[in-house]
Amino acid sequence: MKEKKVSESRTEMSQLMLPQHANIAGTVYGGAILSIADSVAYVCAARHAGPNCVTVSVDQVDFREPVRIGELVTFKASVNYVGRTSMEIGIRIEAENLKTGERRHTNSCYITMVALDDRGKPVEVPRLICETEVERRRFREGQIRREHAKQLAEKRKLTSF
Ligand SMILES: CC(C)(COP(=O)(O)OP(=O)(O)OC[C@H]1O[C@@H](n2cnc3c(N)ncnc32)[C@H](O)[C@@H]1OP(=O)(O)O)[C@@H](O)C(=O)NCCC(=O)NCCS
Repeated sequence: MKEKKVSESRTEMSQLMLPQHANIAGTVYGGAILSIADSVAYVCAARHAGPNCVTVSVDQVDFREPVRIGELVTFKASVNYVGRTSMEIGIRIEAENLKTGERRHTNSCYITMVALDDRGKPVEVPRLICETEVERRRFREGQIRREHAKQLAEKRKLTSF
């Protein structure tokens, strides 16, 4: 398929935070959140481009406030931007206190996935059809982040020794 709508790969998953997800402070370990976020990003990328996708970068992970054991965490992912072989997946993470029903936006991050062919080489992904103003804005912002990432990588090359 040459192109796909953002809505075709949108992915949502909820996970109850259990004692095995705790850090030594007794709240949820950031690595546990990131591990689930990576899986959700994979599913979103696989729905857009097929199952042979790998994570190439995790950017702008913000931990805005702690998540507590016993809370239900929901991960909402969608493809923000596609390049030739890569996809930026945006993930919004919300924690829900099941006693009070209160929901908080606790984290956001961007994960870039690359589609691979059978030999492990990057392969073209379907173009992205943005249908709403929000989807078009996210696409433009993803494009800007990609340009910044490229410039940063170039600078790193120049300053490495
Ligand atoms: C994915 C991989 C095959 C890409 O190889 P590569 O030599 O960088 O390939 P390319 O230079 O052609 O880049 C492929 C795409 O990734 C993008 N990309 C590469 N590095 C990137 C980075 N750090 N951030 C964002 N995008 C990146 C490129 O811009 C390109 O996108 P485009 O085709 O949409 O323009 C290689 O990096 C790899 O195998 N990485 C390990 C993946 C993995 O094991 N993940 C699990 C980690 S535990």
